[in-house]
Amino acid sequence: MSEEKDKSKKQSTVEDKIRDFYSTVEMKEITGKLAKLIMKPIEDPRKSLSSENTPKLLTKTVLDDILGHGGISAGRLIEVYGEYGSGKTQIAKTLAAEASQQGTVVYIDAEYTFSSERQEQILKARGLDIEKFWKNLILYQPKDWMYQLAAIQQIPSQIDLDNEGREPLKLIILDSLLTLIDVSEDFEGRQNLPVRSRVIRTQILGKLRQLARTHNCVVFFTNQIQDVPEAQKWTPMYMKQKGKGGPTVSHVPDIILYLRKAAGDTRLARLMDSSELPVGERVYIINEKGIDDVPLSVKEKIEKASKKEEEKELDKIDDEETETKKTESEQG
Ligand code: GTP
Ligand code: MG
Repeated sequence: MSEEKDKSKKQSTVEDKIRDFYSTVEMKEITGKLAKLIMKPIEDPRKSLSSENTPKLLTKTVLDDILGHGGISAGRLIEVYGEYGSGKTQIAKTLAAEASQQGTVVYIDAEYTFSSERQEQILKARGLDIEKFWKNLILYQPKDWMYQLAAIQQIPSQIDLDNEGREPLKLIILDSLLTLIDVSEDFEGRQNLPVRSRVIRTQILGKLRQLARTHNCVVFFTNQIQDVPEAQKWTPMYMKQKGKGGPTVSHVPDIILYLRKAAGDTRLARLMDSSELPVGERVYIINEKGIDDVPLSVKEKIEKASKKEEEKELDKIDDEETETKKTESEQG
């Protein structure tokens, strides 16, 4: 009897929640808004959506081969994750330099790593117009997650940009996504996880994706890594680590890029996920140009070393397998 009572109590709670939810949504208001919306189909999709006709943002390195069909297509949201020093910020600075030559760049520097000297070094080494960069840059350095949200909210609309005499928005950078959320006490405790996810998904990533689509600009955000607990020692490196935030974050971007350190100043970039591009890996280097192609001699050395390393790993697995089989047959 008491069990039945409990059951009916539980059911009514869920029903109450659903009723509460719908009562907060003013259906009249929504249908009113919908009636005013005009949703036009894409004109000539074959032509207008072809990669050839989509404006591209270039790093002018081998990364352009894996990030798109010869550069990053306008309107895309890109996540790049990797350990500290793997080159996330250097790619951001490189993209900012290149994009500034074609339009407005919004740079949200939540990590406070923006440096005028480094930025000018990159511009100079790439033969780009330094004055144009400063003219086209809108820089925010939010001091906490609320200011980060405000910065995203206040990214100017095209009308505002026109009124200020600015060029169309070409690139938005957020470096990095979770720094200010992770250091805040506001989201401490398991009970705050749902609201944390909601803020990240709707207020940050959702808004950024909307901006990418409405301005037809590239949005590039960086993310830190977390270890994959179920990884074994033979699991490839790119599967041992993943971006922070779980599916809340990883389901939103159009393109996901993983970076890791290799010998010296070289780094490895791997395209992990994209609905329009194949998985691919490229080696790049960090230098005065921000990021750059690896000189051929160094590239050959790295490829040889990584082949050797791979062979060693495979030999180790073979040895372990033989050992296990031997023990099993001895025991059997
Ligand atoms: P976190 O923000 O700490 O997670 O790392 P990140 O992935 O953003 O690293 P970042 O892109 O800042 O790359 C740091 C690496 O770039 C370091 O290894 C630096 O030595 C290198 N680096 C930074 N500035 C320069 C420079 O002016 N010249 C060269 N050659 N290397 C630089
Ligand atoms: Mg960084």
